[in-house]
Amino acid sequence: MHKNIQVALSLRFVLDFLPRTSHPRFFRLRDMSKTTDLKASAVSKKGIDPNLYPTARRDETVEDNFHGSKIKDVYRWLEDPDSTETQQFVKSQNDISRPFLENCNEWKKINSKLTKLWNYAKYGCPMRYGSYYYYFMNTGLQNQSVMYQQTSLNGDSKEFLDPNKLSDDGTIALAQKSFSDDGSYMAYGLSESGSDWIKILIRNTETGKDLNEILNKVKFSEISWTKDNKGFFYCRYSEQDGKTDGSETKQNENQKLYYHRLGESQDKDTLVVEFPDEPSWRIQSVVSDCGLYLILAIVKDCRDNIVYYADLEPGKEINSKLNIKKIVEKFEADYDYVTNEGSKVYFRTNKLAPNYQVIIIDFEKPEESNWKTLIAEHKTDVLDWVRCVDEDKLLVCYIRDVKTVLQANCLRTGKLLRVFDLDIGTIVGTSGEKKYSEIFYNFSSFLSPGCIYQYDFKTPEIMPKVFREIKLNLEGFCRENYIVEQIFYKSKDGTKIPMFIIRMKRDTIEPRPCLLYGYGGFNISMLPCFGLTGLMFIDTFDGVLAYPNLRGGGEYGEKWHNDGRLFNKQNVFDDFQASAEYLIDNNYTSKDRLVIQGGSNGGLLVGTCINQRPDLFGAAVAQVGVMDMLRFHKFTIGHAWCSDYGNPSEKDHFENLYKFSPLHNVHTPGSNEKEYPSTLILTADHDDRVSPLHSFKFTAALQEAVRNSKFQNNPLLLRVYTKAGHGAGKPTSKKIEEATDILTFMSKSLNVDKINLNSEQ
Ligand SMILES: *[C@@H]1O[C@H](CO)[C@@H](O)[C@H](O)[C@H]1NC(C)=O
Ligand SMILES: *[C@@H]1O[C@H](CO)[C@@H](O)[C@H](O)[C@H]1NC(C)=O
Ligand SMILES: *[C@@H]1O[C@H](CO)[C@@H](O)[C@H](O)[C@H]1NC(C)=O
Ligand SMILES: *[C@@H]1O[C@H](CO)[C@@H](O)[C@H](O)[C@H]1NC(C)=O
Repeated sequence: MHKNIQVALSLRFVLDFLPRTSHPRFFRLRDMSKTTDLKASAVSKKGIDPNLYPTARRDETVEDNFHGSKIKDVYRWLEDPDSTETQQFVKSQNDISRPFLENCNEWKKINSKLTKLWNYAKYGCPMRYGSYYYYFMNTGLQNQSVMYQQTSLNGDSKEFLDPNKLSDDGTIALAQKSFSDDGSYMAYGLSESGSDWIKILIRNTETGKDLNEILNKVKFSEISWTKDNKGFFYCRYSEQDGKTDGSETKQNENQKLYYHRLGESQDKDTLVVEFPDEPSWRIQSVVSDCGLYLILAIVKDCRDNIVYYADLEPGKEINSKLNIKKIVEKFEADYDYVTNEGSKVYFRTNKLAPNYQVIIIDFEKPEESNWKTLIAEHKTDVLDWVRCVDEDKLLVCYIRDVKTVLQANCLRTGKLLRVFDLDIGTIVGTSGEKKYSEIFYNFSSFLSPGCIYQYDFKTPEIMPKVFREIKLNLEGFCRENYIVEQIFYKSKDGTKIPMFIIRMKRDTIEPRPCLLYGYGGFNISMLPCFGLTGLMFIDTFDGVLAYPNLRGGGEYGEKWHNDGRLFNKQNVFDDFQASAEYLIDNNYTSKDRLVIQGGSNGGLLVGTCINQRPDLFGAAVAQVGVMDMLRFHKFTIGHAWCSDYGNPSEKDHFENLYKFSPLHNVHTPGSNEKEYPSTLILTADHDDRVSPLHSFKFTAALQEAVRNSKFQNNPLLLRVYTKAGHGAGKPTSKKIEEATDILTFMSKSLNVDKINLNSEQ
């Protein structure tokens, strides 16, 4: 279990937007001579008369009693995605936002420049399964990356799976894959329109043909093969009724673990594990490297798991419920299976080690007093992940002050064997298995789109070598023209918060357009990574990017996360606001040039911050945000976020959430100071992670609040995308469209004095 199945509000896709990596020759050298100098007024804000916003019906009769507080929910009707009234609301919002964004010269120019920049070949790490290597490749603008198969690393490759052929518009994505131990089959999950639901299909790797069966109602599931290659374990929500295409809002409960046998239809699958008394539990399963255990890491929200296991007897049919044995019974820490040697099972855990350590639990003597520590917790660095390679080695990755450190340790003694040299940046991909001595890792950083290194433990004297380096087909990008700095600023309570600032090199610092991006939650670490749109912002507006590592993330282990969740959530907002103040006070930007952006849990961040400090920002972009903090737990997998937000049905949590819930803290500007920044709210019709209803209700409340205010000229817009979800699997054409909308919005709503949109060279 390398990384848990995501149900948190993680935004791998937002990371697309983020600068995610760094390498030379990426970006075209900024050519100032071609920069058009524009009068601020020419691209200045285009105000919107607040009376033009569509009127959303207020239903004054809907009222909830929260522990004695009566709270109206006048836009409850917007929670029904299928009603004509909701659809009309969406249409009337798009009728305002689309022309605002699209009917201008900038949109076309930004779109064509961005499309050019995007058009370079992207490769994933080679992965070895059975007699083949596989890798993903995207020629540049393909909507989905294509999977290739080859018999040797230097040999010819043939197309193995091309998701682009599965739909005309690229909205079917390969969401997951898992090979049988001998590599003869690949089970894979397809997701449609960005939904979390997947269908599992099985492909024969020799013939490239799929078996007949298709497994449905699968969500938040691992696919773990038994070592006899005859079938695999997976989870489904078999009781979920109604539509399951991702546009529904029904809660996901009662996940069950099944065993599927190759060649049989899904209705013959064996139910192996269920917990009928625990509807919120989700079952993450992994077959141990030796094949003799099925290890279950059970979670109920977004942190802490218990550990159960079942013995798998070689040669014995799996045709009934498994007999479960309990190892860890309390939800109080994370346990991540690494590998095992007989009954000695290795876990990475934060049990009594907030920065994580590697321990060994002997399944024959599982009492905690018998647990052994193999790699002890580091005082300051977070042990981010561990992977067993080359029989007896552990590839170990640490986060040190928000930068990646990669090393190898001995599986038997825990001793450090070697450290891999890395620049400031992040390992964004790895491949390597216990049975192979060869590993690959993809390193990336703010100014480097990615570089895959190859290393073989059989030849330790040979340094890791560059296997493939991403080359942009754009001339002139020169890393030396940019600066990446990491500073530490003080938040409201004095805590030091790290922040990366990326900009063009110059002698003096003067206020420039600045994109401030934040997340702050769910223990998700915002590591340095490459993003085209971010560099496009720098290049086009001579801008500055800023990435603060807000509390709530995992950058400094469990403590950092704890300091930004539950009753400490306000710290996250304070950290973000303090980062804006730092950037203004230190001349990197000014209020009218500063835009904040965040998605998902980061959309909540943006929604809250424009309510709390409208005076601090020029513009704001909130993507797929959680905006109704009193009802988030009622839809799809929302209940799993109680570990970060708290449960509104408990009084003290309700009181805490009510203080910052974006929907419940909207104000009517009574002065220029209180005017909302220009705000763009983005969501999509198949987002079943954070239902679009959050953005609908928040927009309705904002527009209603400003309707009669003479102090509100900045636009407050909602754009709803169709056939799209929370972000994962989004086709390239939709990513470019969204990025174009965002950059156009920024260029129209910020005080931009230079704009370089010349995409010819
Ligand atoms: C990607 O999908 C869009 C439709 O969503 C289509 O217009 C475009 O041609 C596709 N791109 C490629 C490279 O196939
Ligand atoms: C929390 O974040 C740390 C640092 O990124 C990571 O190593 C750990 O696995 C995360 N915990 C969970 C439960 O995801
Ligand atoms: C490395 O990862 C980045 C970011 O995920 C990706 O764009 C790139 O294609 C990968 N491969 C290489 C060779 O950099
Ligand atoms: C801030 O920027 C202005 C230009 O707008 C410049 O005159 C001033 O010296 C800068 N201040 C600092 C402290 O760098």
